[in-house]
Amino acid sequence: ESTLGRAAAQSGRYFGTAIASGRLGDSTYTTIANREFNMVTAENEMKIDATEPQRGQFNFTAGDRVYNWAVQNGKQVRGHTLAWHSQQPGWMQALEGSTLRQAMINHITGVMGHYKGKIAQWDVVNEAFEDGTSGARRNSNLQRSGNDWIEVAFRTARAADPAAKLCYNDYNTDNWTWAKTQAVYAMVKDFKQRGVPIDCVGFQSHFNNDSPYNSNYRTTLQSFAALGVDVAITELDIQGASPTTYANVTNDCLAVPRCLGITVWGVRDTDSWRADQTPLLFNGDGSKKPAYTSVLNALNAG
Ligand code: G3I
Repeated sequence: ESTLGRAAAQSGRYFGTAIASGRLGDSTYTTIANREFNMVTAENEMKIDATEPQRGQFNFTAGDRVYNWAVQNGKQVRGHTLAWHSQQPGWMQALEGSTLRQAMINHITGVMGHYKGKIAQWDVVNEAFEDGTSGARRNSNLQRSGNDWIEVAFRTARAADPAAKLCYNDYNTDNWTWAKTQAVYAMVKDFKQRGVPIDCVGFQSHFNNDSPYNSNYRTTLQSFAALGVDVAITELDIQGASPTTYANVTNDCLAVPRCLGITVWGVRDTDSWRADQTPLLFNGDGSKKPAYTSVLNALNAG
């Protein structure tokens, strides 16, 4: 096959990208995005500050722009993200305790209700654990509302849209030896044992010189899958875009039956949140990089 999406579909997987609503008027961008990818994540438009800018007043204008573009072009959508310490609107940043807990529940219910039945996977909770060696939860207003906030978010999400796969999504959880990885693993294991509804774990996979790809990535994906959840590579970008590393990541997903697919975090290097690292599969002029060919070949060989 000659596109990433169709090549991934040969094994029942998808190949996705983050889409920014502000770039949908750029025909170089939309031509590549439409041709190559069959899964879409809104880069910012379904986040809390975008969808509930005032408490109780939902705004789906930008989220729907991305959603509609995706569906009109035959793509599936990953929802990103419902409960997160970052990109909270001002009103939510100011909340604590039971008031915040109720606001989180209302937010999840409101956003998932709007997209009910339309989203393949939701990142229900994003980045709830601390970096470094502690393995602790990240300190945030959500965490201070009670340690059970994550499971409450997942139970709320299941009730709001039973058709969506519910994911926990994080970064620096790729390296199997890291405390953060082990802490998330323990949480997912506990959730599965106690029947907390969780269907998938998203590995953001923002690889750079500080947190590079490690060959134990496949062990990480396999270990989580063995707990009885799907895994997904949700925000892939690699500093310098080494073709070898891109192929390794692709092969690691292909090696794990429960790896649903791969999403890269943007189309061209110039669209990236880390544009200076040239981490993506297309150059700014829209031409394919060596990493693109490497991923395509890996998908076709797998
Ligand atoms: O749209 C405004 C623009 O009007 C304004 O002029 C400009 C000035 O700074 O800001 C623009 O908003 C920015 C927005 O991206 C759109 O470009 C925000 O400041 C900026 O904070 C925001 O950054 C996003 C970041 O999440 C925020 O946390 C990135 O685009 C987005 O790629 C990034 O994505 C996150 C995932 O959601 C979670 N995992 C990590 C990943 C990378 O940080």
